Amino acid sequence: MLLSNLKLTKKYPYMNSSSSYWENYYSKHREPSNCSPFAEFVTPFLKEGKKLIEFGCGNGRDSKHFAQQGINVLALDQCEKEIAFLSEKFETTENLNFLAEDMTNLPEMEKSDFLYSRFTIHAIDKAGEGKLIKWAANNLKTNGLFFVEVRSVKDELFGVGEALADNAFFSDHYRRFIVLDELHQQFSSHGFDVLYSIESKGLAPYKTEDPVVIRLIVQKK
Ligand SMILES: C[S@@+](CC[C@H](N)C(=O)[O-])C[C@H]1O[C@@H](n2cnc3c(N)ncnc32)[C@H](O)[C@@H]1O
Repeated sequence: MLLSNLKLTKKYPYMNSSSSYWENYYSKHREPSNCSPFAEFVTPFLKEGKKLIEFGCGNGRDSKHFAQQGINVLALDQCEKEIAFLSEKFETTENLNFLAEDMTNLPEMEKSDFLYSRFTIHAIDKAGEGKLIKWAANNLKTNGLFFVEVRSVKDELFGVGEALADNAFFSDHYRRFIVLDELHQQFSSHGFDVLYSIESKGLAPYKTEDPVVIRLIVQKK
């Protein structure tokens, strides 16, 4: 386990069970599947040869898709075993690299042209969200774009499980449901313009679920 996760775990025990949950999930879904509808939506905004960082890449399905479009991709996730598997699998793919990191405690990096987070901001607590967005403000180039898809408080899973702080609930893993205006405010206060924003069903259907999700494109001023 990452040292930063160990520290996190002491304060928030549910975070540990969430990372175990995802390690266990990806032990059964190791291979990158088809990319998400959000990755397809984002693709026309990207430019070949530019750098993109994905936060919480899971089995790398969206990062693999972006790399196939000629983007230089760095894909991060807390799941060390899945990241080790993907690093080996894509060892010879020069423009696709993987790193086991806690996205709420990232080191400074060379500035990126694009940032991408799908279904990950609701996997971290409010303080972690603040840290991630502050990091994004410092590590994204001026005019760079940050693409986000996340569960809304209007999602029908809201209220399922044990209630925690900040609209979060723990069932088999941690989920914190997002208020659209609060997310706008969070980005604005860190120097981003909101270029595109939608909150709707129909954007991220999965098996029998059709959650209400928020999609944002924000630009670093
Ligand atoms: C719902 S999955 C989404 C995976 C991928 N983005 C996708 O759409 O297929 C959430 C992912 O976020 C990762 N994650 C959650 N908290 C994290 C953290 N603090 N740092 C890095 N990754 C994290 C989990 O390990 C998991 O892979």
